[in-house]
Amino acid sequence: MSVIQTPTTTPSEERKKVTIRLVQAMKTRHERISMLTAYDYPSALLIDQAGMDIILVGDSLGMVVLGYENTLPVSMDEMIHHCKAVARGAKYALLVGDMPFLSYQVSTVEAVRNAGRFLQEGGMNAIKLEGGGERAETIRAIVNAGIPVMGHLGLTPQSVHQMGGYRPQGRDAEAAYKLVEDAQILQEAGCFSLVLESIPGRLAELVSHRLEIPTIGIGAGAGCDGQVLVTHDLLGIFERFTPKFVKRYANLAGEMRQAFSDFIADVRANTFPGVEHTVEMNDDEWQSLEERLTQGNSSFIIHDDALR
Ligand code: KIV
Repeated sequence: MSVIQTPTTTPSEERKKVTIRLVQAMKTRHERISMLTAYDYPSALLIDQAGMDIILVGDSLGMVVLGYENTLPVSMDEMIHHCKAVARGAKYALLVGDMPFLSYQVSTVEAVRNAGRFLQEGGMNAIKLEGGGERAETIRAIVNAGIPVMGHLGLTPQSVHQMGGYRPQGRDAEAAYKLVEDAQILQEAGCFSLVLESIPGRLAELVSHRLEIPTIGIGAGAGCDGQVLVTHDLLGIFERFTPKFVKRYANLAGEMRQAFSDFIADVRANTFPGVEHTVEMNDDEWQSLEERLTQGNSSFIIHDDALR
């Protein structure tokens, strides 16, 4: 049985940029890999400062930030726009950009070009794409172009219609066998890591033991080499639905709503802004203004009370 070690925390000035080699070495050293999603500059900054190993600019962006029904409408331009913001905020984490629906399925040439945009324009270090053996050729071509690829098996949200909804995958022997095979194919095609989403914990553990590359689980139990969550789920900002496998670490939606209604109440009661939020003007300048305004025209006398 492998022993899980807690990684030693290093002060931020000693931190090194996380690379795909480091992530792979973490698996060898039995150090768990942490990954969260980010879509903007301030959250990327905070997640990076917390010491996250990997930041994923996921196409979950479509649902939790852009308000789409599912991830299918997300475009390449939207992904690149958000990747740029994240790249400006994160200095250390390995940055992975999620290829949106139809950006890699149509042709290998398009897939390589779009994957390249994540690095060239978006400032990412790697890309992620969904699918099994049917993606092997595409993955090989992207890796051959020098672009690290993270695979994604199990519940693959871009296939929501084909799967008949967001349901756990690999629960019968046949589907589980196919997933084990697919994982092997993705490793051989050159993936440096694999997301396993919503599959039985024992299957994820088996796959993680069989593969040399690290697996990152979401709804796949504790036997994976790392864990990922959608940040808006973890923070409790996205309330439309919460998958069973999410652990909420905060209830920011509640706190945000409270802050917004406190502001409304302050504005209505005129208790904000206070003196401490207001720009001052020194008395001499004020007097000089009064004198200039009143020169030759007494109707310009400033009544202090009227200005308060
Ligand atoms: O889009 C996303 O955020 C993802 C993670 C859930 C792995 O693919």
